Amino acid sequence: MKYFLDSGKIEEIRYAYKNWAIDGVTTNPKHIKNSGKTFKTVLKELADEFKDTEFPISVEINPHLEKAEDMIKEAKEYSKLSSNFVIKVPCTEQGLIAAKILEEEGVRVNVTLIFSASQAIQAARINATFISPFIGWQEASGVDCATLLEDIMLIVENYGFSSEVIVAALRNGKQIVEAARLGADIVTAGFEVYNDSFDHPFTDRGLKIFQDAWDSTPH
Ligand code: E4P
Repeated sequence: MKYFLDSGKIEEIRYAYKNWAIDGVTTNPKHIKNSGKTFKTVLKELADEFKDTEFPISVEINPHLEKAEDMIKEAKEYSKLSSNFVIKVPCTEQGLIAAKILEEEGVRVNVTLIFSASQAIQAARINATFISPFIGWQEASGVDCATLLEDIMLIVENYGFSSEVIVAALRNGKQIVEAARLGADIVTAGFEVYNDSFDHPFTDRGLKIFQDAWDSTPH
């Protein structure tokens, strides 16, 4: 299972790429806002940082666009900025019309804002490169998304769809493990979620025990 970092901050992306071997990045307008920089600046930073690599970077089109033709136009402009860019379009009827045409014309698409298995089927049917069911938002309001994820993975496998499933908006290690258990291709989560997943209090406790033994034993 690949790990993508959900972020618009070049410093943390650089850190996670170098030290954690992350496999890709997903951004959205919220992450770019949180970087404190302009959209143009962030896209340029990402394009420059990863040029000459195959590192996939999902960038989202203007979320105000409603018509497929406008989405296609903007997606093509973004895709010209970097061969790393995969264009995020929303899982709406118009978004999927745009996604189908973009994929047919060689622009890779990440269908985002998927919240049901029926949406995931629609996105997989048009051969989107990535399909992104959001887990964290629903689970934050008490919905258990394990069945949703299980259904999506089963459906993709049943029909041999080529789309890779990115389990998105993850908030903790348990959700990462659940995605892995169900065979997800990719997870995407924020810097802190991955950072937390290295730690365990028993590891710290064990280290202390071993340090004490080390210090109190003649070498
Ligand atoms: C995925 O591609 C999205 O950018 C992301 O997971 C959205 O969720 P969040 O920003 O609330 O974590």
